[in-house]
Formats: sequence, C-alpha cells, structure tokens
Amino acid sequence: MKIRVLIIEDESLIRWSLRQKLEEQGYTVDEAGDAATGLDKHSHSNYDLILLDYKLPDLTGLDVLRKVRERDADSVIIMITAFSRLEQAVEAIRLGAYDYVAKPFNMDELMFTIQKGLETTELRRQVRELRGNLQREYGFDKMIGSDKSMQNVFELLRDVAQSGASTVFLRGDSGTGKDLAARIIHHNSDRAHRRFMNITCTALSETLLESELFGHERGAFTDARQQKKGLLELADGGTVFLDEVGDMPPALQAKLLRFLEERAFRRVGGTDDISVDVRVIAATNRDIEKAIREGHFREDLYYRLNVVPVYLPALRERGSDIRLLTQHFVSHFAREFRKNVTGVSDAAYDKLMNYAWEGNVRELRNVIERATLLCKSEQIEPKDIALGRLDDAGGDEGLEGMRLPTAGIDLARVEEHLCREAMKRTNNNQTQAAKLLRISRDQLRYRLEKFGISAPEA
Ligand SMILES: Nc1ncnc2c1ncn2[C@@H]1O[C@H](COP(=O)(O)OP(=O)(O)OP(=O)(O)O)[C@@H](O)[C@H]1O
Ligand SMILES: [Mg+2]
Repeated sequence: MKIRVLIIEDESLIRWSLRQKLEEQGYTVDEAGDAATGLDKHSHSNYDLILLDYKLPDLTGLDVLRKVRERDADSVIIMITAFSRLEQAVEAIRLGAYDYVAKPFNMDELMFTIQKGLETTELRRQVRELRGNLQREYGFDKMIGSDKSMQNVFELLRDVAQSGASTVFLRGDSGTGKDLAARIIHHNSDRAHRRFMNITCTALSETLLESELFGHERGAFTDARQQKKGLLELADGGTVFLDEVGDMPPALQAKLLRFLEERAFRRVGGTDDISVDVRVIAATNRDIEKAIREGHFREDLYYRLNVVPVYLPALRERGSDIRLLTQHFVSHFAREFRKNVTGVSDAAYDKLMNYAWEGNVRELRNVIERATLLCKSEQIEPKDIALGRLDDAGGDEGLEGMRLPTAGIDLARVEEHLCREAMKRTNNNQTQAAKLLRISRDQLRYRLEKFGISAPEA
C-alpha cells in the first residue's frame, strides 16, 4: 500500500521540491497552499503523513494541527517552522505533532524524520492492535461457567485483577483453567500494557530455573558469557506466572520467598539488590499441603503465597457447566473447522454428563474438538465422542498416550523415548513435537538437551 502524504504549505517552490522528493520515494502526494484547502482535503481522505507549514495565509499551523487531531489521531504530522519560532514547534509537539523541522531544512534530514515518524506510528498501531487482540482473547467472557462456584471465581478474579494484590495463588486440578485465569488477571489489570512472563517450574533444572527467574551476571557460571536479565526484571510493571510452583526446588523456594517479602532480588552471581514491581501469580495442581507435610514445600512460602488463594473447581463438581462449555467449544471448533455442527444430541449429552472428567475442561475441550471434526451431521452423536483418551495433543495421527509426565517418579527413560518419538513423528519440528507432548517448547528443548537428542532447528 502506498503511503499518502498531504503537504500544507503556502510557498509553492517548497511544495514543489517536497513533492519531487516524496514521489521519488514512492509516496502519493497531495498538496494545499492554504489551511482551508488542506483541511478540506484532509476531511475527504486518509493521510499517513502531513507536512504542515506554520505560517499559512488563513490560519496558523497550530490551528490546523488542532483541527486535524480532532478527527484523526493516527497520521504523522511534521511541522515546518521558521527558525525564530521554536517555541511554536514545542507547542505543536504538545498538540500531537510528531516532530518539526526548521526552515531552511535539509531534505535528507526531513526524509529521515519522516521515515522515523512513519515507523514509530506503525509500531504503535501494531502494539495497539495486538493489545486489543489479547484483551479480547483474555476477556472475562472467555472463561465460561454458570455454576455458583465459578461465579464466585469470576468475582474473585475481577477483584484481584483490579486490586494491588502482589501475589495470587491459583489452585485446582489439571485442566481447570489456572493458566487461563492467570492471563485473564493480567490482561484485565492496569499491568496489561506491560509484560506477562510465564515459566513452568517443573521443566528446568534448579540452576536454569534460578537464572531464568533472577537472571545472572557475566561469569556467574561456566555458560554465563554475558549478563542476562531474568523474568522478574523483564516483567517489571507486569506479571510473572509461576506455573507448577509446587515443583520448585527447595533452595529456590527460599529465594522466591525472600523476593516476595522484600520485592528485591539478586541476579545469580550478583551483589546488588534489584527492586522490581511485579505481580506474581503462582499455580499448582498438586496437593501442596501434603507436599508441606512431606517436607517438599516450605510452609512459610505457602503462607506467603496463600494470601489471595483462588480455587478453580473441578469440572465434575459443576455438572451444569459441562453443557455450557460443550456448547461453547462446539461453536468454537465448528467455526475453526468450517463445519456446520450446531450442537450435541441428548444421548451424546448423557454420555458427557456421566463421565468423570479427570482432565477437566482441557479434556472436555479436546473431546469436543475431536467430535466436531469427526461429526457427520449437524449434531454430535455418542459415536463421535471418544472418552478416556489422552490424545489432546491434537491432530488425527493416532497419537494416543503420547504425553509426558511432568512430575513424580523418575521417568527419564520413558521421557526420552517419547521425546525421540515426537521429534521423529514431526520431522524434528520442535513446536509441533512440544504440542504433541503437551509441554511447552522450552520444556521440550530442555529435555532434548538433557537427553542429547539433536535439535536441528534450535
Ligand atoms: N472456564 C473455562 N472456560 C473456557 N475454557 C476453559 C475454561 N477453563 C479452562 N479452559 C480451557 O481449557 C484448557 C485448559 O486450561 P488451562 O491450561 O488453563 O488449565 P490448567 O489449570 O492450567 O491445567 P494444568 O494444571 O494441567 O496446567 C485451555 O484450553 C483453557 O482455555
Ligand atoms: Mg497450566
């Protein structure tokens, strides 16, 4: 798409030379010799860039700027002023001009300013769009539930998001929506414009996890060739989501506790305290009280995390939500697969209602995804519903059972086998292999390294 420029400038020679230069750069150029003509053109067209002279025969450039900004917040406006009038240039920037050039100006300098202005505006637009997408994706309406227990959860999440609560503890079985809840909290808080960083404590060795979280100084350990910022620093002003916090190694638990109490930490190998403002959302699907009794989890950390606990109820405890979620997922996947599937037959509902849903919403989502894909009519029938499979890695390649245990006994050899198998089946595509194994790409890469499995795209 061509960039459209409007030049509002009363000196025809300047207009002419600007037009030559801009057209040479591939821009589409309109011009006006006075404010009225300029404003008229502006009201009939969209411009990416406006070059605006301060001294015009009918109005001042500042008046024009004000009027343009009233109906167009996006275009890049560059003021052209006389040297003796720099205070007006400052005022112009306050009113929303991107920059100014003083007459007589250097053409190359002006072109540079224009380019920077267009790039900045484009970036700003992209950020705004992405943020809008995220806000839509993680709006409260994306978490479904009409059961009383879920209504209470929504209320709590809303309060937490809006509050200054610096720590939140999400509890609930696997697949109950902890990850979703964490993102919803972040994207509906005043931290939404800063980063959301997440890390799964199970995936990494103690050393790696520590340096991921707190960062490290150059030379802190053999591989530390340069200083690295940790997630806590990168997320300053935003949110850090510590998933599976129940699996955090004890030494790190102590360091996390210190951070939660003092809001300051040291990089690995560092001597200076670094203070940051982050909200920590921790989550676990483990029986953390049992972990405390068995000495795997620090009681003091538990109390510190548990200031604001949010319990996500298991799906089987809220039968009415099964229907609602089913309908939600059917619509979602029907759209995604472009299939005319509108719902679920009564017999199919019975089948869904009588099942135990150990994998909670995640399992239901996967069952419905598959059913929608396989369904041959408008309604999903019992035969479309395959229960008790662990195939939510997605895809229809017969991948049942390919799932990595993320905690518990040492299953290194099983893990290694699964990793190799997943890489083989996906032609060494790490993203797909991770998806297949239901682990994050980082978790996969860590394992590939651990088992010495070659990783061509790393
Ligand atoms: N109430 C809900 N409404 C709509 N979708 C949901 C809801 N709860 C969970 N989901 C969806 O179910 C899937 C699993 O949820 P999520 O990843 O948040 O679970 P989790 O509690 O983090 O599980 P785990 O303990 O295994 O990490 C996701 O696709 C999520 O978007
Ligand atoms: Mg999760």
